[in-house]
Amino acid sequence: MAYKLGLIGHPIGHSLSPWIHDQFLDLARLDGEYKLYEGDHQALPNVLKHLKEKAVDGFNVTVPYKQVIVDYLDEMNEDARILGAVNTVVNEGGKWKGYSTDGEGYVRSIVEPFPNLLKNQTSVLLLGAGGAARGIYRALVQQQVKTVDIANRSKDKAEAFLSLRTGEVKTSVLSYHEAEAQLSEYDLIVQTTSVGMKPNVEDQIIQLDNLRNDTVVSDIVYQPITTSLLEDAKQRGAKIHHGHAMLLYQGQLAFEKWTNKNLDVAHLVDRLENKLRG
Ligand code: ATR
Repeated sequence: MAYKLGLIGHPIGHSLSPWIHDQFLDLARLDGEYKLYEGDHQALPNVLKHLKEKAVDGFNVTVPYKQVIVDYLDEMNEDARILGAVNTVVNEGGKWKGYSTDGEGYVRSIVEPFPNLLKNQTSVLLLGAGGAARGIYRALVQQQVKTVDIANRSKDKAEAFLSLRTGEVKTSVLSYHEAEAQLSEYDLIVQTTSVGMKPNVEDQIIQLDNLRNDTVVSDIVYQPITTSLLEDAKQRGAKIHHGHAMLLYQGQLAFEKWTNKNLDVAHLVDRLENKLRG
């Protein structure tokens, strides 16, 4: 059977997902296609009708439809329901079920190179409180680390994250200045805002003067492949983690849900980096 997979979003012409899932189909020795189904808000109902009629096995959902898609689903898993966002839809016997794989994809991407990083004594600082940060925050909390503090420009948005918590993990909401002052407390710092993204590659969300050199600094921005924040952290002797790995691992999780194949994709991280470097 040939798998019918794809992506909805707008704009998605430059998406790397078709390349990623073609690699996965090859690795799994499966027949299939992963197509782009682009459309603006007005076109969305027809795009989804087409996917229903075509009986696709599943599809990814990206900006700006991660929340809107919820209205078209038959079911959602608990994480997607709590986050109110879906990036993966699976056709389960004709019913569409929504999942959110961004947060768990992020965790897989960081555990692969740093297997001992997320422990019950680990203190994490999350920079940003947007859609990407929500999934990552929940996934980090589920790892039962000690602390996940959130720094954001608007504190209200970060305070809303407290309802996503499970277990005993502590969270303080900070300003960027407060976070800078206590930077040496953290084992992992995760940058989730768009600051530093092309074309504003010189921008850096916080200053790193108080960074410890055994802290891992992670940036989910992958265009450019490295950011001012990561280069600064590297100069100071800290360990760094680039954003494109998250893209790969959220895809791996989606692929697993569609095909039941659990692939080892670690070797594709460097291939994806080369592709991004062009
Ligand atoms: P995404 O879904 O990509 O996370 P988003 O939901 O629009 O996008 O969230 C963007 C995040 O980047 C937010 O944390 C936002 O901060 P505010 O909540 O204070 O708006 C942050 N952000 C974007 N541009 C920023 C800038 N120039 N300086 C500081 N933070 C910025």
